[in-house]
Amino acid sequence: MKKGVVYRVAGPVAIAELDARMYDVVHVGDERLLGEVIQINGSRCTIQIYEDTTGLKPGAPVVNTGEPLSVELGPGMLSSIYDGIQRPLPELKKLMGDFILRGAAAPGLDRSRKWDFKPVVKKGDKVSSGSVIGEVNEGQVVHRVMVPPGNEGVVKEVRHGSFRVDEVVCVLDNGFELSLMHKWPVRKPRPTSSKLAPVEPLVTGLRVIDALFPIAKGGVAAIPGPFGSGKTITQQSLAKWCDADIIVYVGCGERGNEMTEVLTEFPELIDPRSGKPLLNRMVLIANTSNMPVAAREASIYCGMTMAEYYRDMGYNVAMMADSTSRWAEAMREISSRLEELPGEEGYPAYLSARLAEFYERSGRYVNINGSQGSVSVIGAVSPAGGDFSEPVTQGTLRVVKVFWALDAKLAQRRHFPAINWLNSYSLYLDALSSWFAANVVAGWREAVDSVMRILQEEEKLLEIVQLVGSDALPEREQVTIQVARLVREVVLQQNAFHEVDTYSEPKKTYAMIKAILRYGDLSYDALKSGVRVSDIISVRAKDRLAEVKFVRDYDGLLKGILGDIEAEFGKLGKRQEK
Ligand SMILES: Nc1ncnc2c1ncn2[C@@H]1O[C@H](COP(=O)(O)OP(=O)(O)O)[C@@H](O)[C@H]1O
Ligand SMILES: [Mg+2]
Repeated sequence: MKKGVVYRVAGPVAIAELDARMYDVVHVGDERLLGEVIQINGSRCTIQIYEDTTGLKPGAPVVNTGEPLSVELGPGMLSSIYDGIQRPLPELKKLMGDFILRGAAAPGLDRSRKWDFKPVVKKGDKVSSGSVIGEVNEGQVVHRVMVPPGNEGVVKEVRHGSFRVDEVVCVLDNGFELSLMHKWPVRKPRPTSSKLAPVEPLVTGLRVIDALFPIAKGGVAAIPGPFGSGKTITQQSLAKWCDADIIVYVGCGERGNEMTEVLTEFPELIDPRSGKPLLNRMVLIANTSNMPVAAREASIYCGMTMAEYYRDMGYNVAMMADSTSRWAEAMREISSRLEELPGEEGYPAYLSARLAEFYERSGRYVNINGSQGSVSVIGAVSPAGGDFSEPVTQGTLRVVKVFWALDAKLAQRRHFPAINWLNSYSLYLDALSSWFAANVVAGWREAVDSVMRILQEEEKLLEIVQLVGSDALPEREQVTIQVARLVREVVLQQNAFHEVDTYSEPKKTYAMIKAILRYGDLSYDALKSGVRVSDIISVRAKDRLAEVKFVRDYDGLLKGILGDIEAEFGKLGKRQEK
């Protein structure tokens, strides 16, 4: 290990006389604060430090570990709660109480716990990068132990039984020893064999997303929105309900006690699919407010590396980052300490390149071991004042394929999720249509297109209404306004806090859309046959369609309401005939 000495400190950045390579991890000062070399100038290097640098001064010793910032990958990650550099928060808390002391060290994976390892290879088998050598049950998830990328050989010995993560379970002919865990540098994407096209949706149970703006497994989405518009609630809904096998949730805590809420609430959530704790298939990374900015910057790379690791096992992983703006701000702060030439709004010139690099690690792949897996990424963005023209939103827009634009006005009107249906888009809509047709219902896309058409028409009509009032609208358009209102209130609005409404399976979403379209058809037909528009609008049963949201076995209720709607229309017809 090479040693050096600090000669300048500026906030989270220190400059030291040290022999190092880019991205070497170093320990700074007597407290052994964790840092990373981010710039080298002759014999001097700049170090970003992941912990509070109060009290650090010139002359302090620096030790170079010679290794890049890495995470430990192996059984025990699921249901863990980590800080931005994979230190287990509950462990740290046990070690030192509520205030995490500086220089605290606890390994990412528990060294005392034993796991039952069942090998799937035998002596003489040839293995290579990513080959699965055996399995461990990590809660209800089968954890596949893989040869770390870049290694290969012939199995000389393989053991069966109960092991700690760092015990040798397999030896190759070249002497390489494998244990249940291996390390991987967080800034280096794990290798893959080939990229696959997105064909399957990440089903979220949010009607506005699944129907209008779907995301593919392996897809990338951004949720930009001002403070209080619902970014965190949406991210949490997705984490709870989306049909990924594994969830990696990276939280940055924008509101005061938001991270505390996550830390107390998430461990209590029950996975709707297994009936077991949701945390069993989740890795939670929490950037607590007492961690400095540099750790935030590292946290999303740690999260991504963990996501890629489970992808390599053949799983569909979804990663949520809330909020990427906090990460970009960390980049800005570090950059200004480095006295780099600032770009737009003080962000470094490489902001969009970094955003792109990060999002590009997502995707659906054939892994190097031949299995298929995906990493979907959903990043929240919090532009100040909701101004989407700022650099982080713009940089994100350039790389994501789905954009769920949150709207402060909708949030104020308590229209949740406040996803603006006119500004949002999904470039996966076409690619995913055949999946919905084959797996949900043949008429899916047609229904979705009808909904979109109605909403767009409503927008135009509302402009006219603003100018001349609703009575001036032609009768047909007055009906359209009614249908659109139902679409918004019944389909688009969804209460994340209601135990049934919080999740809507695509079949239910479709049934609700079809019911509204049916009301629309009956209305237009009645109008044609001479029924007065005021009578059509006063059909009362249609207003009960919203009740369907809150009922789990909705079939009977929906049929009943539709029957009542038809009966009311039947009576309207008769009155006209007299
Ligand atoms: N889907 C939803 N259903 C019900 N209420 C919601 C929903 N989304 C947001 N809210 C309300 O809006 C508030 C702010 O949401 P939050 O996600 O914390 O905003 P942000 O993260 O954008 O600052 C929540 O506390 C909640 O009251
Ligand atoms: Mg938030």
